[in-house]
Amino acid sequence: MESKVLDGLMRPKSIAIIGASTDPTKIGYTVVNNIIKGGYEGSIYPVNPKADEILGLKSYKSLQEIPGEVDAAVITVPSKFVLEVVDEAGKKGVKGLIIITSGFGEVGNKELEATVVAKAHEYGMRILGPNIVGTLSNSEKLNASFAPLLPLPGKGALVSQSGALLIAMDMATFTRRVGFEKLISIGNMSDVDFADLVEWLDKDETTSCITLYIEGIKDGRKFMNAAKKATKPVIALKAGVSAHGAAAAASHTGSLAGAAKVYGAAFQQAGVVQATDLGNLFDLSLALSLQPPMKGDNLVIITNGGGVGVLATDAAERFDLPLKFAPKDVQEELKKHMPVFGSAKNPVDLTGMAGYDWYHDSTKFVFSHDWADGLVVLYCETAMTEPMEIAQGIKKALDESGMLGKKPVTVSFVGGDKSEKAMQWLVENEIPAYGAPDLAVHAISALREYDRMKEIISEPEETITTANKEIALKAIKAARDDGRDSLTEIEAKQVFSAYGLPVTTTYLAKSEEDAIKLAKEIGFPIVMKIVSPDILHKSDAGGVKVNIKDEAGCRDAYKTILTNAKAYKADANIHGVAIQEMAPWGTEVILGSVNDSTFGPTMMFGLGGIFVEVLKDVTFRVAPVSKKSALRMISEIRGAPILAGVRGEAPRDRVKLSETISSYAQMIVDLSEEISESDANPVLVYEEGKGLKVADARIILKKK
Ligand code: ACO
Repeated sequence: MESKVLDGLMRPKSIAIIGASTDPTKIGYTVVNNIIKGGYEGSIYPVNPKADEILGLKSYKSLQEIPGEVDAAVITVPSKFVLEVVDEAGKKGVKGLIIITSGFGEVGNKELEATVVAKAHEYGMRILGPNIVGTLSNSEKLNASFAPLLPLPGKGALVSQSGALLIAMDMATFTRRVGFEKLISIGNMSDVDFADLVEWLDKDETTSCITLYIEGIKDGRKFMNAAKKATKPVIALKAGVSAHGAAAAASHTGSLAGAAKVYGAAFQQAGVVQATDLGNLFDLSLALSLQPPMKGDNLVIITNGGGVGVLATDAAERFDLPLKFAPKDVQEELKKHMPVFGSAKNPVDLTGMAGYDWYHDSTKFVFSHDWADGLVVLYCETAMTEPMEIAQGIKKALDESGMLGKKPVTVSFVGGDKSEKAMQWLVENEIPAYGAPDLAVHAISALREYDRMKEIISEPEETITTANKEIALKAIKAARDDGRDSLTEIEAKQVFSAYGLPVTTTYLAKSEEDAIKLAKEIGFPIVMKIVSPDILHKSDAGGVKVNIKDEAGCRDAYKTILTNAKAYKADANIHGVAIQEMAPWGTEVILGSVNDSTFGPTMMFGLGGIFVEVLKDVTFRVAPVSKKSALRMISEIRGAPILAGVRGEAPRDRVKLSETISSYAQMIVDLSEEISESDANPVLVYEEGKGLKVADARIILKKK
């Protein structure tokens, strides 16, 4: 959908309020009052079947009576009248509808909601809502909502799925001193969704950064595409990240993938900066709306206090931006702006004696220096200095450096009222300032993270071409024809193999004699496993025997496995026993997938065995996954050093592993209509150049 289509809705030249009222207790009254109070300069048309005048404005009995054009219509009539009103609006040529009314999909009234959307689309109208507070814009002086006031002016736009929270955040812009240009309530997202607004706001000249409060996204891929394309920072706070269907998951991966992890991966891949909580959402919005991305890792901290300097240094490490000592020439110059007992290393400690001049001179020097990619200036209020003077010194230095807007800076003043006022002044002058050093560091680290993510997004993606989808579909069809929604290990390995995954050689034995013949063909030692669609957790059923060295062992194992399986589940449908090559020992990892309801096929990687069971040391990516991204997955788990080679052990074959992850991801994309969840667990990874082996495989199909 063309983003221009939203102009009528978001930037209307005229606005009607259908359900406007003379009764001050009604939302229809408040909206008209808010539009007037906000100073809206377009035409305002209240519509009410009985009233002639509302709040001093001429009121119309119907939309058709309005003499001029109507760009947007705010709807505040009860839900049972909305469809009729939408039809009237369509006939009038209204471009966009702001449907405040509740009582649609959110209470199960999905059919009415869909009918309303279909009706609006018949006329080419777009809908914001229903079930919203409305929309507010400082640049349009438009408060088309029942939130009390236009927010404190700022440069970012905030889109919220929660109406009540939007109102609360509106008021909090004044207490937190973090302004917004726009607040948009998105409610049920029956039509206009997060992706549409990201696309529109990205082109909106009055918006410098897009902040989202998200409870759930409807179309994950659409959102990711819009966010990836956005040229402005997108920040998201995702609420509701607990137990996302994990309990019902049949595979290992299914139980490890929660909304938090999948959303986290999707945000990262789409270049969306993730806020940790509401306070952080404001803090990051301030920094990302006022400052440019940080394009390198060299962060400098200037301080007048060792304590805040150490706190900021700790935070820098925590937020993945560890401090480095400044180069010698930088240190030499800085020493001129501090007493002999100061420190020019980094953090740069000007000491408690630091006044206007030292702050000004060191800030100007550091910010202009090529080595510094970003700057955090800290100040502890002392009796020797005036916070406002220090703030002015910092700002003057930044201006004189000529680098404002080219690299980022954040500030933290710790002190009393005077420090608060100084910070307020800084924010008014577009320098993000925070009441604690770690907050200033967190904010600048978000600017660094944003740049890193955008750089990764711009990398070309290589695709895998070796797949044989037909063979994979044949194995899946065999299971479907058998009335099953899970594949046996042998079938799952056929699918994996069709996508180039190096699986252990596995044959199906239907008798003891078969078993001996196949074992000899593979060569001892071998592994034997029960093959039954009714026994997914084979080890639990006593259905796995490893390191079988000879014919006698093979006969024994065959009998024991069948006996155990029958004891475990008497009516289990047993296909036979898998005779399998025993892969030599290697580092155990797990590859897996879920078909997420929001983002579709999603890939998981982690260390296997106890690491996955206990430590849940896994990472996710929405598929497909390029080889480069796969390498990043390998390096971002906590256990990465194990694969890199620790204590004299040779590094593992991470190149082959990355190719396998990438092929696996391609498989789950190609077969997304079929595969619900899957695991390759364990996968044994060998030394560099020696590849890996998939020792076990599990595929759960989508129910059809
Ligand atoms: N055209 C024009 N005006 C009409 C029409 C029509 N077709 N039909 C009715 N009206 C008028 C009514 O006559 C009334 O005006 P009046 O006061 O002069 O009589 C006005 O529209 C409103 O209708 P009411 O029946 O009085 O409805 P009321 O104002 O009580 O409720 C509302 C309407 C606010 C839309 C309600 O149904 C609703 O959905 N409330 C929840 C809204 C909400 O909270 N949304 C945000 C959710 S997020 C959050 O929780 C913060």
